[in-house]
Amino acid sequence: MNQLAPAPRKVAIESDISDAAYARIVALSKSQAGIVLSPSKVPMVKSRLTRRLRTLGIATFDSYLDFLEGADNPEEMSAFISALTTNVTQFFRENHHFDYMKSTIYPHIKAKLARGEKVRIWSAGCSNGQEPYSIAMTFLDCDPTIGSKDFLILATDIDPLVLATASAGVYGDSLIGGIPDAFLKKAFTVSQKADGLSYCVNDDVKSMVRFRQLNLNETWPMQGAFDLIICRNVMIYFDEPTQSRLLSRFSDKLDQEGWLMIGHSERLPDDTTPLLSSVGVTTYKRAQKH
Ligand SMILES: C[S@@+](CC[C@H](N)C(=O)[O-])C[C@H]1O[C@@H](n2cnc3c(N)ncnc32)[C@H](O)[C@@H]1O
Repeated sequence: MNQLAPAPRKVAIESDISDAAYARIVALSKSQAGIVLSPSKVPMVKSRLTRRLRTLGIATFDSYLDFLEGADNPEEMSAFISALTTNVTQFFRENHHFDYMKSTIYPHIKAKLARGEKVRIWSAGCSNGQEPYSIAMTFLDCDPTIGSKDFLILATDIDPLVLATASAGVYGDSLIGGIPDAFLKKAFTVSQKADGLSYCVNDDVKSMVRFRQLNLNETWPMQGAFDLIICRNVMIYFDEPTQSRLLSRFSDKLDQEGWLMIGHSERLPDDTTPLLSSVGVTTYKRAQKH
């Protein structure tokens, strides 16, 4: 049974997080999501969690943590993780990866599909959906009929709030930067809303992507191998042992010929370099066994 949330009421929220409360938050963030919070994150954590305290009508961080850790409370744990994740993303972010998909990955995928084999891509840590939709638009541009073939993009994130936005596929004016004009015309339906233009991802693009909630540091239910795993600007929030474990699991999940792409500020920890060979900017393939 879920623990009942206290009835929200107006309370004065304590202005500081004690060292002990912050230590509990750090431990929970690490154990639940793998996210490491340094002492410099105190102001960010305080501001984001204060919103949770206000919503729940809880006055102190200690009482909030007691509520969060007490009994079975998955909804609030999920809201806690949502509050702590950083979801910054954009369409065609780090555009060189999309150029690489067109020039190098597409010919491989085309040959696989022509042989009647399936193609699977995984956007791991997809945030509000801009990354998987950019992938879909890229391959749709290579082959306008690809959506009717055995081609799917799995897009996962730990945060249910971003997944709701991603599945809706509707973006405001301020979020469409980075999309080439030709894609804007082909892949979106534009409408005028009270607060500006709204861009809705068209069904042919949407139908190529499946959104699922998944904590990368827990068990993965997916069967089968991926032709491309793209996990950018996610590992940066994890410590090195967690990054190593994740990269080793990604390498196991890659097809023998599959690619892995990571973010521009991320690097492979030393113990994972034997598993993955660099083939481009922050782009890797499974190392061949000798
Ligand atoms: C900064 S965004 C990156 C989005 C996109 N990959 C990009 O590069 O534009 C990081 C995402 O990773 C997700 N994330 C953080 N920890 C996670 C975990 N343990 N499992 C799955 N997703 C996680 C966050 O919710 C967030 O949406």
